[in-house]
Amino acid sequence: MDEPIDFLVIGSGIAGLWFAHRAADFGNVVIFTKKDEAESATNLAQGGIASPMSRYDSIENHVNDTLTAGDGLCHRVIVRKVVGMAPGIIQDLIDIGVKFTYRRRSGRKPADLDLGREGGHSERRIVHAADLTGREIERALLEQVRSRENITFFENYRAIDLITTRGLDGKRTVRGVWVLDDQQDTIIPLFSSCILLATGGTGRVYRYTTNPVISTGDGVAMAYRAGCRVGNMEFVQFHPTALALPGAGRFLISEAIRGAGGILRNEKGEAFMPRYHRLADLAPRDIVARAIFAEIQESSLDHAFLDVTHLKANYIKSRFPNITRRCSELGLDITREPLPVVPAAHYMCGGVVTDARGRTDIRGLLTAGEVAFTGMHGANRLASNSLLEAVCFAELSAREARRSISARPREWPLLRLRRPGGKGRPISSRVIQRKIQQIRDTMSDNVGIVRERPLLAKAREKAAQIRRWADAAFRKTRITEDMIEVRNLALIAELIATGAYRRVESRGLHFLREKPRRDDQHWHKDNLLKPRTR
Ligand code: FAD
Ligand code: SIN
Repeated sequence: MDEPIDFLVIGSGIAGLWFAHRAADFGNVVIFTKKDEAESATNLAQGGIASPMSRYDSIENHVNDTLTAGDGLCHRVIVRKVVGMAPGIIQDLIDIGVKFTYRRRSGRKPADLDLGREGGHSERRIVHAADLTGREIERALLEQVRSRENITFFENYRAIDLITTRGLDGKRTVRGVWVLDDQQDTIIPLFSSCILLATGGTGRVYRYTTNPVISTGDGVAMAYRAGCRVGNMEFVQFHPTALALPGAGRFLISEAIRGAGGILRNEKGEAFMPRYHRLADLAPRDIVARAIFAEIQESSLDHAFLDVTHLKANYIKSRFPNITRRCSELGLDITREPLPVVPAAHYMCGGVVTDARGRTDIRGLLTAGEVAFTGMHGANRLASNSLLEAVCFAELSAREARRSISARPREWPLLRLRRPGGKGRPISSRVIQRKIQQIRDTMSDNVGIVRERPLLAKAREKAAQIRRWADAAFRKTRITEDMIEVRNLALIAELIATGAYRRVESRGLHFLREKPRRDDQHWHKDNLLKPRTR
């Protein structure tokens, strides 16, 4: 790098790309990603992005639905801020070339955005691009970012750990990040005094997940190791409807399908959701996922069914072309037969503690997207609020980066650095993959949709044991991609299990068999975990 990096961005999903696009207006940007540029959860997003756009809707309604889904733990100020920004953000996305779906134009009136409906929303407010919303947003943002001369993009660069220093006030400041260049197999430091962490979620810590391979919680793990608090890690969202077919890899069946009239049925063909919630199939996600889980327990099958056969075939095909196509490749005509579905790990509501300006406990380190715990989602995220929160916090972080740029030194830092890892022979991939499988089995069997304290304790202990093994191996041996991964996954598993063990009540996504009710007297609060190094 010839000159100091003003803004360093880790991750090229919606959060990283939006920040890069904005920050490039006032400094140079380096953005890097551990796979290829579009490999992200963003690219898989189907349903859409929530925003109160219709004349029947209001910011107040959207705020209230978010608070209801969040089961008492959303930070009201953040929810107001994000939802208030939503219509402007949708316009910004349109302005950079995102092609959302519009309703058919009637007469001379300009066409309106087609607004979908999803669980927990009292109005139609899901702005979408058919059922490939994320891919369309990612495409437009990548185009923006590629067109800027002062943005440099690296693929196959994997962040290992943050480089920080401690000031006289005891507070840490970020200086850079250690990176494994996967193709050259070398480890290099990249320096910047402003870093956006936008590494996405943690779904890969479970056996079955809708998440892509990159979702291994690297950002949360790196930030925690460097001294940031993390919060509400117990609130892992299981999406109710992942496809349960061999070879389908838990392909997501969008909630928008239920918004369009799809009905969940059990083995007997019964539409069971009205027994669980007044909103039936459009109840918030935690309730639907638990209902499916309960129905499966009573059934001889390992899945429930999602039925759209009563809806017009042409409508289904044109509204959900991606889902129709994927199912058809797997031999299923969704317009004629119900789809086998199961819940799968989908979204991390917790993450790195982040304030309303995108700042963390480390000076100069900002976060946005699924890696961040901002208070937006509380104990259960409302459908399609994730892309919204990610882009809003990327915007807020970019504003913060702009504010702080003049106060930051613009020269190479003088640091005494110790390269991570050791000199020993790398641990074999087979051994590491076995450890990763153990983590996934432990989490899936013990920290799933319905939890019990003895099992949570067991999971916490097992995860800690693998984390200690990974930390020791990491220090002694040459670092490889899968060593980085197992070290991060083990820590994430430990943080989730610890958070879940500590919260002795049931709320939102955290359902504890021994304490099936919410306990506002003791637990109407966030569950923050402080790293030992602080
Ligand atoms: P991501 O988009 O996951 O991007 C993370 C980036 O970080 C990637 O580029 C990755 O390679 C990079 N990275 C990770 N670790 C490292 C590392 N160590 N070094 C370098 N780079 C790294 N939400 C909605 O609101 N609406 C939806 O319709 C919707 N549908 C979804 C469908 C699916 C199948 C899934 C999985 C999620 C869906 N979500 C949806 C959730 C939403 O897509 C994600 O929460 C959101 O896209 C996260 O964006 P992000 O930028 O934080 O992370
Ligand atoms: C979906 O399309 O069901 C996913 C929406 C989300 O995760 O918010």
